[in-house]
Amino acid sequence: MTATVSIAVEPARPEDEAEVVALWRACGLTVPYNDPATDFCFARAGAASDVLVARAADGALVGSVMVGHDGHRGWLYYVAAAPSRQGEGIGRRMVEAGERWLAARGVVKVQLLVRETNTQVVAFYEHLGFEVAPRTVLSKWIDGRE
Ligand SMILES: CC(C)(COP(=O)(O)OP(=O)(O)OC[C@H]1O[C@@H](n2cnc3c(N)ncnc32)[C@H](O)[C@@H]1OP(=O)(O)O)[C@@H](O)C(=O)NCCC(=O)NCCS
Repeated sequence: MTATVSIAVEPARPEDEAEVVALWRACGLTVPYNDPATDFCFARAGAASDVLVARAADGALVGSVMVGHDGHRGWLYYVAAAPSRQGEGIGRRMVEAGERWLAARGVVKVQLLVRETNTQVVAFYEHLGFEVAPRTVLSKWIDGRE
């Protein structure tokens, strides 16, 4: 088990937006079809969602998880540990913080999506007790775009 790192995990504040987006970019989590700043604001504004961040003792933002539930299952997005701080237990702390956030709201199962281009991260989640679920995910833009 990774040694406990000295970080504080807390809900993101509005003024964290730029630092959080920079972390997501540095971790390769942004894609052309999603504006990360919009994602940050939308999750923070939601009644059933939030962005949690980890801060190091010097105040640097070193981890994140976007968490929310859809009235049934819980979901994690943007799980990230700062590139210079990976392997120190921050990713585990973010996943666990997301799980606690969901459990506190009565959610009994947590799920997440891994992009096809990021399959090496699957072993990380399996190590934390997740299992690959035999489901086919279907999606559709409903804002008019093709
Ligand atoms: C994935 C990521 C969040 C992991 O964070 P991290 O801080 O490096 O991981 P941790 O140090 O918390 O690792 C937690 C545990 O998982 C294990 N682990 C980490 N990566 C692993 C891997 N690829 N395969 C198997 N186990 C792994 C660690 O050994 C550690 O075990 P322990 O707690 O029993 O000692 C981080 O690498 C990251 O930000 N990657 C880029 C963004 C990304 O791909 N996010 C996921 C999107 S789906």
